[in-house]
Amino acid sequence: MIPTFVFGWPTGKESGDFLALDLGGTNLRVCLVTLQGEGKFEMTQTKYRLTEEQKHDEGQKLFDFCAECLKTFIDTNYTDGEGKSTLKPGETLPLGFTFSYPCVQERIDHGELIRWTKGFGALNTEGRDVAEMFRNSIAKYEIPVTMTAIINDTTGTLIASSYVNPKTKIAVIFGTGCNAAYMENVKDIEKIKSLGIDDKAQMAINCEWGAFDSFEHEHLPRTKYDVTVDETSNKPGEQAFEKLISGRYLGEILRLVICELIDEGVLFLGQDTYKLETPYVFETAFLSLMESDPTDELLMIIGIFTHFFAVETTLAERQFFRALAMLIGRRAARLSACGIAAIVSKMGYLDEGCLVGADGSLYNKYPGFAERVHEGLIDIFGDKGRNIVTHHAEDGSGVGSAIIAAMTKVRRDAGLY
Ligand code: GLC
Repeated sequence: MIPTFVFGWPTGKESGDFLALDLGGTNLRVCLVTLQGEGKFEMTQTKYRLTEEQKHDEGQKLFDFCAECLKTFIDTNYTDGEGKSTLKPGETLPLGFTFSYPCVQERIDHGELIRWTKGFGALNTEGRDVAEMFRNSIAKYEIPVTMTAIINDTTGTLIASSYVNPKTKIAVIFGTGCNAAYMENVKDIEKIKSLGIDDKAQMAINCEWGAFDSFEHEHLPRTKYDVTVDETSNKPGEQAFEKLISGRYLGEILRLVICELIDEGVLFLGQDTYKLETPYVFETAFLSLMESDPTDELLMIIGIFTHFFAVETTLAERQFFRALAMLIGRRAARLSACGIAAIVSKMGYLDEGCLVGADGSLYNKYPGFAERVHEGLIDIFGDKGRNIVTHHAEDGSGVGSAIIAAMTKVRRDAGLY
């Protein structure tokens, strides 16, 4: 549970041009967000692919790459027809840095990385202030920006969704990782008691719930496949809840079941199955496809297995794979419902009801995921569970980052923390 130093909800009146740099999973993104007030905005963005090597090389190099992409983006978007910069001499653009890994924050523009998650492992970064590391890269490339805020994608999603729809009280990301944020009363946040912040204020909390039950594994029921996913990961013991839910792991869980059945001689006898033996080759997107296959013969599943893994399947096997995908996908959705229910209970949102802004590939692309979360909430709360409704969130990592940069500017100008 990490205090984020994002104070309260946006007014919807925030306006101006803001840059956002989003580092959080598969891609790196640079966005230019124009906040128009009245809960409206416009955005242009460019995505850059990150290589596996970059995720595990020196951390400073990763931030240098972020800075290079930012520079290219600014050169492209802030130049006139003759190639001259449209910025005034000495002008800097405000930038929100969306860094979606657990960080301890002492201020909004500071963040000490606790640990990498989601398969990242860049060296010499854990335990260090990533805001400062990125600021060093910005200075190195002489980029005309001022980094005003470092935020988590969940916090960004919470703020962006509330900017557009003020009934949003919780935000959840169901993507490569899984995590949530909500707004807490400052008086109830033990960790910041000594700072003397106004008791009546509110602050967003980044739950980092993906880490729930890490190391001890006391609470969550795990199968032997979950244990293998954990033990063979680059961070054994960590992110215990996330490993049962997020997009990074669901395909791998299914692959491990298949591999066990191959070893037992139950599946694909006499066929060469080496392509299925590489960890993480079975993408979570395949589970989505398998569940949505509308044909009686399950032709899409035939396609996946012949095209990507060069193995032939029988109809019975395909039906079994689909049932397996349903179990894995459904468990992920229902466990997430437990997380949402915990926040709803703690904050007393059940009677009044609230919206939950949700984003990420699993939520957006996995068939029936949202319905399964809602079913879970009804099983937990009974009929009242219907008061808690998830909806596709606004782009928190881009727009949310910009709104928070704008909110921070207002606070800074007023001399507040
Ligand atoms: C991981 C990260 C967390 C992030 C989530 C979703 O759980 O630790 O910070 O919010 O993934 O991207």
